[in-house]
Amino acid sequence: MNDASGAPRPRSLKQPYGQYYRRRTPAPDRTLAEAGPGTAGGEYLRRFWQPIALSAELKDLPVKVTAMGEEVVLFRDRSGRVGCLEPHCSHRGTSLEFGAIEERGLRCCYHGWLFDVDGTVLETPNDPASTLKDRICHGAYPVHEEKGLVFVYMGPPDAKPEFPTYDVAADPAQDLVPYAITTPCNWIQVFENIMDPVHGVFLHTRIAGAQFSESFGDLPLLEFRESDLGMYYITPRRVGDKVWVRMNDVVMPNILRAGFVWEDGYREKHFTRGSLLRWCVPIDDESCLAIGWRLFNPETDPTGKGDKRAVGKESVDFIGQTGERPYAERQRIPGDYDAQVSQRPIAIHALEHLQGSDKGIAMMRRLIREGQEAVVAGREPKAVRGSVGRIISTYCTDTVVRVPKRDGVDDEQTLWRIGHGVADIVTDPANGQGVARHARVVARVKALAEE
Ligand code: FES
Ligand SMILES: [Fe+2]
Repeated sequence: MNDASGAPRPRSLKQPYGQYYRRRTPAPDRTLAEAGPGTAGGEYLRRFWQPIALSAELKDLPVKVTAMGEEVVLFRDRSGRVGCLEPHCSHRGTSLEFGAIEERGLRCCYHGWLFDVDGTVLETPNDPASTLKDRICHGAYPVHEEKGLVFVYMGPPDAKPEFPTYDVAADPAQDLVPYAITTPCNWIQVFENIMDPVHGVFLHTRIAGAQFSESFGDLPLLEFRESDLGMYYITPRRVGDKVWVRMNDVVMPNILRAGFVWEDGYREKHFTRGSLLRWCVPIDDESCLAIGWRLFNPETDPTGKGDKRAVGKESVDFIGQTGERPYAERQRIPGDYDAQVSQRPIAIHALEHLQGSDKGIAMMRRLIREGQEAVVAGREPKAVRGSVGRIISTYCTDTVVRVPKRDGVDDEQTLWRIGHGVADIVTDPANGQGVARHARVVARVKALAEE
């Protein structure tokens, strides 16, 4: 028996040696996965500032970049301004990646048209008497540079948000090092990994030895919650006489905040802000850029396991984030990159079997879908698009407090008392913003641990 596509139809999912009947591969959910111009996903992502390159890449030559299925040419002119232009020259289409950078703007190599960073045509020296330059503009997108990352806004000009300021990016206690890693699979696979804490137990600890710390090897208690920004999880664990509560969070549509890579739960910490603030920006539908800031902070990383020198273009200082290691080594000690990329260029959700531990994955996909649908329907998506005069509080923390087991008290109850207590404190808007918020959260977590 064949199904409509001609492939053999499975008789039963329970049939041993039954692959012959299971060889069908349905199409992926393209509506969810696509990000090109005019698609639902593409329009959703285009309502936000997206980082598409490192500032360090903009030197003496233009850089051609593909973002969300669209090619652009980035350049920094000699007066220091950054432009993001449609690659094909408005005169006769030569790519501006071959252009010459000038004091003001970028000059096409073919007949010398000169373009300003906003697309203004400054000169048409091939026909100096022509007034054409006053009547047309070349395609351009607004650019914002922030702490070593080049952000572009590729959405409708009248919907452009203010550039958002996230707490850790404005915190002088955090040292931000920009990095970007090209990953050959759909962006949602890389993004949703952050709401899959159980992979830390297996991929990073039990299957091939502890990649980060042994403490990740115990199945934690687990809860997922929606937030004003997106969503977060709470994973309380017992580590000796300590309770370690890790919260990772997501800022829709495509920002993730990840806790301290090498956390082991041994040392008391009240509100540490993790290792990453990172975007997953589609390059096209089958590849993406994991780009953002690696955060360095002595309270988060008291023994100095991180290494700033290893963080940059196509590189970060922890295992398994690129395809550069030898294949056999990646088979023996696979990392996030191997797990995500091998899910297929675009994972086929119809072939998955989600379980209770995958509630975060399901929630995340629903949030993405709702955001896409809102934008398609002309509504504002549920997300923080800008922040005028305000610092956006994110919720990622590794909190470790000394709360020993108590006789006669179910330890799971204790873990949830601390876990829920930390989450309620960290997400409470009454703590205020920025440095003042940090101090209030620390004081309240200390009080919680002493209850
Ligand atoms: S094609 Fe660019 S100036 Fe002619
Ligand atoms: Fe991971």
